[in-house]
Amino acid sequence: MCGIVGVVSSENCQHQVLEGLKKLQYRGYDSAGICLKMGGELVAFKAKGSVEDLEKKCPENMEAALAVGHTRWATHGSVCEKNAHPIFSANKHWAVVHNGIIENFPQLQYDLAKEGVCFKTETDTEVISALLALDNFKDPIQNLIWACGRLKGSYAICAVQQSDQNQILVAKKKSPLYIFSSGSESMVASDPVCFPEDQYYRLEDDEFASVSQTGVIFYNKNGKRIVKETQGAITKQSQISKGVFKHFMLKEIYETPDGLNALSESFANFDFSKMRKWWIGKVKLIGCGTAYHACLMGARYFKKHLGLDAEAVTASEFRYDKVILDTSTLCIFVSQSGETADTIAAAQKALKHTKKIVALTNVSYSTLSSMTPHVLSICAGPEIAVASTKAYSCQVAALYLLVMALKGEKELKNALKNVKKTSKLLEKFYVNLGRFAEDISACQHVFFIGRGSDYITALEGALKLKEISYINCNAFPAGELKHGVLTLIDHSTPVIVIATEKQTSDKTMNSAFEAKARGGKLYLISSQMPNAASLDKFEMCLTLPQTCPDLECLLATLPLQLLAYNVAVMRGNDPDKPRNLAKSVTVE
Ligand code: F6R
Repeated sequence: MCGIVGVVSSENCQHQVLEGLKKLQYRGYDSAGICLKMGGELVAFKAKGSVEDLEKKCPENMEAALAVGHTRWATHGSVCEKNAHPIFSANKHWAVVHNGIIENFPQLQYDLAKEGVCFKTETDTEVISALLALDNFKDPIQNLIWACGRLKGSYAICAVQQSDQNQILVAKKKSPLYIFSSGSESMVASDPVCFPEDQYYRLEDDEFASVSQTGVIFYNKNGKRIVKETQGAITKQSQISKGVFKHFMLKEIYETPDGLNALSESFANFDFSKMRKWWIGKVKLIGCGTAYHACLMGARYFKKHLGLDAEAVTASEFRYDKVILDTSTLCIFVSQSGETADTIAAAQKALKHTKKIVALTNVSYSTLSSMTPHVLSICAGPEIAVASTKAYSCQVAALYLLVMALKGEKELKNALKNVKKTSKLLEKFYVNLGRFAEDISACQHVFFIGRGSDYITALEGALKLKEISYINCNAFPAGELKHGVLTLIDHSTPVIVIATEKQTSDKTMNSAFEAKARGGKLYLISSQMPNAASLDKFEMCLTLPQTCPDLECLLATLPLQLLAYNVAVMRGNDPDKPRNLAKSVTVE
């Protein structure tokens, strides 16, 4: 993944790059580095850890005319200073920061080694600086175009050269890259959130640019100059702060009702008349991780309310599997960031077969939004914590509203009322986790069970908890316990039971009691209190307020998100930046 920022300005470039990188840490935070150009020379600082760690290592007020920085999520090569970017060419003439994966780097390394190039890092990126250092052309941009012609895979690149010219050379394929230029300063970044104003250029695949203080020149892959238009509308910086909360994750959980309200307003004003005319044969819902769980919930809505053959598929499977699509297939791509590489590749595949493609995203300027014919915003507002919380609830609610909107005007109106009611309940829902979080924080394994929509909530609860607590969590359909899982239950095993569905909750309870009989400790999250006779079987019972059955899953999700948050904090983990993960997964 990784985030990159470059600045050419007469002001303090170093400071601007470091501040930009701090905003990009959702893309990776293993290590960070910066390259400053000072009097024609390239100087670099690197740190293992966060951008804040890098900042401590950089001398203040270095008067650089140009700087490029990088925050890393390791793909090739361990996490260490040597592998942190910028990656220099052996002759130190070129420095490169890169987001993406060069898939043919072993072959390129082999070819370059034969020409005497000696590699110093374990990164795939070093082949880029090595290719540039061959200096096959006088014009540096021609060098970059030529070098990129030899690369396979994905890349957003900022390259700088030891020379008198203060310019950043940039290239893009499959990884996002944006450029801002005001006439007196120019910036390059993986996300326009780094820019001071909301007018910027979006670089497309196989486009190149040379970025200097006074402006930008764009090129196509044949080296011909091209003209590009700016675009705009990004999230205002002021919205992105922790406010009174200790962590973004907690703040974002509490922002769920705001997101649901914004979503309702947006759907109430959206014109669904075109979509209502579609003849839909079947529905595929595609996403990754938490977004995939929202897809599972969405598939249930399509089946229940529209009687359609609907299936949720993880994007990483969809892109390579034999999936049968035709012009009557409705494909819905769900992605908070709109930048997830697998989801984008899956959408590219679907676009070859059907035009009935809808993207549900949280980022209006994302790659997924720009490539799909129909885009609906989930309106969750900026989500910074790596673990997705309010975005999940908004994705589920958006899928529910979409299904009801396709059913008809009247159905949408009712559905909007249901979302509003649920949002109000969430606002007032005080969850006292009591000993629950303490018990769980001391465990090594946790099981979650449920049936139907409760099983999907269990899957999402397990993902959230494992993601930030590092506890091994697994979710099962309640009826599956006896087919193998019971073997793992002993007196120390917590089983979190989700039972909101009226038609299946008795059955789920039976499965829970089978686990109890083997020593399992039961924690119940349900819309109803269990009867007095079985109350003492549970360590804790959390009773949810009642809403329409389709949205009870949102009420059950809230305590699970809070549980994950509290357990992570109790175990001394940073819930906003769990180890080994990144918010935006822009590599395969
Ligand atoms: C889990 C989580 C991830 C993302 C997944 C897809 O809390 O955040 O599982 O849901 O990486 O990301 P988007 O929705 O940006 O495509």
